[in-house]
Amino acid sequence: MRTLLIVGAGDVARRALPSLARRWRVLATCRSPQAAASLRTAGVLPIPADLDHAASLSRLAGLADALLLTAPPPGDGMQDARTRKLLSALAKAERIPQRIVYISTSGVYGDAGGGWCPETRPPAPDNARAWRRLDAERQLRRFAGRHGCQLTILRAPGIYADERLPLGRFASGAPLIRPEEDSWSNHIHADDLAGLCVAALRRRAGGARVYNASDCQPLPISEWYRRLAAALGLPMPALLPRDEVRASVSPLTWSYLRESRRLDNRRLMRELGYRLRWPEAAGYLAQLAQDETRRAKALATMPKIR
Ligand SMILES: NC(=O)c1ccc[n+]([C@@H]2O[C@H](COP(=O)([O-])OP(=O)(O)OC[C@H]3O[C@@H](n4cnc5c(N)ncnc54)[C@H](OP(=O)(O)O)[C@@H]3O)[C@@H](O)[C@H]2O)c1
Repeated sequence: MRTLLIVGAGDVARRALPSLARRWRVLATCRSPQAAASLRTAGVLPIPADLDHAASLSRLAGLADALLLTAPPPGDGMQDARTRKLLSALAKAERIPQRIVYISTSGVYGDAGGGWCPETRPPAPDNARAWRRLDAERQLRRFAGRHGCQLTILRAPGIYADERLPLGRFASGAPLIRPEEDSWSNHIHADDLAGLCVAALRRRAGGARVYNASDCQPLPISEWYRRLAAALGLPMPALLPRDEVRASVSPLTWSYLRESRRLDNRRLMRELGYRLRWPEAAGYLAQLAQDETRRAKALATMPKIR
């Protein structure tokens, strides 16, 4: 059995574990004894390693045939020093992972003014967070080219699941942009993104390939929240003109609200051989609305900010 190394065994990677364990011997990095114990319970061999500490990464060299990298870049700067440290450690061994899957973000496209974004659209990051992602993608491309690896980059939009709905918006009461001036957004269910990671690790063709790891239904941001509010019986935040929203939310929140793009996922649907369980976020929300137990659990995750 070949060996897969997961760097960043967080929510999405853990959702993929049952499928991955059928095909791979799985190793995963961890940063706490608790994480190590829960990985062991899942049948995964934990390896203590922190991407912020280069010395802890030397033990990752030469261990694996494939790499699933889901750890995010650091929280500041324009570059991803974490990926740089990881790749430098991996390059020191003779055995280099020949398959690499990386979860990036659709933020690398920047603002498309509501236009469609196929993978051929040149990236144009609009903020430091997106520049760090693009830097990670570029490092991985260079590494893959140099070492003859297959590389799959999955550019994900907003990830959601029952346990991770963006309910902070309802708790804070921060306003949204009114529909006629609103930005477009896409979503992906965490289980579907996990399934796409599994499918990407099975991809046949060599070389580097980028996919928009998105559902099929772009929604104006306020529409996503309107449907979420209806599904959970929550009051909608105020819908205000664009300029007023900009003036009243934090720069970080505005950076998410201002960028408008619709992800074209046809390459993903055509090539990866994975059938999305939730091709439309609206279908997921309609089902959630019908299930009292799931609704109650989802509502229990709502932060109490007000
Ligand atoms: N939230 C969104 O809507 C969204 C959208 C697009 C893309 N993404 C990206 O998609 C990826 C997967 O998402 P997810 O929900 O599975 O993320 P997650 O649950 O936050 O998992 C991230 C993992 O990275 C690990 N990690 C963080 N810093 C590390 C470091 N310095 N050294 C080693 N490991 C480190 C974390 O370890 P610990 O458990 O020890 O912290 C965690 O296991 C992430 O990169 C995320 O940023 C997110």
